[in-house]
Amino acid sequence: MSQTAEAPVRKLFIHTFGCQMNEADSSRMREALAGEGYVGTEVPEEADLILLNTCAIREKAEAKVLSALGRYRLIRNQRGTRLGVAGCVAQQEKEKLLQRVPYLDFVLGPDQIASLPSVLAKVSGGQRVTETGWMDSEEYVFPRAHAESSRGQVSAFVTVMKGCDNVCSFCVVPHTRGREVSRAYADVVGEISDLVGVGVREVTLIGQNVNSYAGGCTFAELIRRVAAIPDLARIRFTTSHPQDLSPELMQAFAEVPQLVPHFHLPVQSGSNPVLKRMRRNYTWEEYTAKIDKLRALCPEIALTSDIIVGFPGETDADFELTMELIERVRYENLYSFIYSARPHTSAIRHEKEWGEVPYEVSVARLERLQKRQRELTQERHQRLVGEVVEVLVEGESRTDDSRRMGRTVYNHVVNFEGVAPAGAFARVRIDRASVAALGGVEVDFDPPLIPVEKPAKARGLLPVISAAPKQGACDA
Ligand code: 5AD
Ligand code: SF4
Repeated sequence: MSQTAEAPVRKLFIHTFGCQMNEADSSRMREALAGEGYVGTEVPEEADLILLNTCAIREKAEAKVLSALGRYRLIRNQRGTRLGVAGCVAQQEKEKLLQRVPYLDFVLGPDQIASLPSVLAKVSGGQRVTETGWMDSEEYVFPRAHAESSRGQVSAFVTVMKGCDNVCSFCVVPHTRGREVSRAYADVVGEISDLVGVGVREVTLIGQNVNSYAGGCTFAELIRRVAAIPDLARIRFTTSHPQDLSPELMQAFAEVPQLVPHFHLPVQSGSNPVLKRMRRNYTWEEYTAKIDKLRALCPEIALTSDIIVGFPGETDADFELTMELIERVRYENLYSFIYSARPHTSAIRHEKEWGEVPYEVSVARLERLQKRQRELTQERHQRLVGEVVEVLVEGESRTDDSRRMGRTVYNHVVNFEGVAPAGAFARVRIDRASVAALGGVEVDFDPPLIPVEKPAKARGLLPVISAAPKQGACDA
């Protein structure tokens, strides 16, 4: 099924749900399909192939996938568009999804991106296909990003490992993403060097649990190797488990200038009994001791976290401990969720024994937590008013195209009046702050090394619709 001169152009629409792993996987899928003659479209109604790259982390995320499938069914009926489901829901449901959704052509697990062309060949031959096998870690080859398709981007995600060997009792990810496999460091460094060659200035190293990276060196060593790439200005990473936060990684925050002082370290709860039932493998005391050590080494570090409320058996007193924890740590921002029972997890089997938290109680807890965090975030943002901050410019502001947008090292979004092009480092005097973003006026800027400015919608060969935030935790 290789592309020939007379092959008709086929159009691909990818709808990406969930986290940055899915964002990165969608890019690899569109690259695999570009070799098969597919070009991207932002209009699902004109697509020959619609791919849903899905998230199963919470029930709501899964429900969104099913309702999107219902909408795309109409397009399939009208023009024979092929429909495929990839990602975590595909892995979780496997062939059951084909039975449940009769108009679906194929189901593709996260390990099977490279099989996409052969799956499509079978689909063209009239088959309905499920491809959800795992590859042995020795066999698995991480699909390499095509640097050229990242031209025009200032920032890129780079996969360094996949899967998760932890056993958090609420989490479906070990089931949908399999065992941990790390990518060889030389491969990671090679990919990033190519990305820098097309103008990328910032990378986010991604994996389900990057701290347990083992691709020929430790994660802290990987960061140092990546930092040695000339012209790479910023390194971020996500996501991390507190139990694997090594002294070596803490030291990297103090010593590696390219490693930004922003750390996403999901805590999930402030109550030790809840943490125990969640099988997180640390206590409040251990978590906060690590935070204190980190802050001693890197006092300016901005911390963000994930919290689950309403986990089975969570009492009012447990929840108050979570509220106390956020006062103690003072996160820059939080991603918080109501516990959602997931198949194949141990928590779902113990819900009755531990005691289900009534939904209204969980909602009230979530609202209280989020309200307090909004105040804390606003306080932190307010302190920057009057200061000059440095941002890496990404392009036009998403809310007002007469303004520019960039991010600080702490990952604050800054919308500003100015002319600095994408890829520039601009100094901006902050004159306003809200919970979502900072506003200001450009003072001056260093021009980009390579011109990267493009209209936002033209970025990437094939567009991806995304429900995910650009940085930080998954919010599906
Ligand atoms: N219910 C609610 N939130 C969950 N998360 C993971 N599994 C669940 C679940 N079953 C949250 C955790 C994790 C983030 C990515 O999603 O907070 O860190
Ligand atoms: Fe899920 Fe993260 Fe726990 Fe792994 S470490 S089981 S991905 S919450």
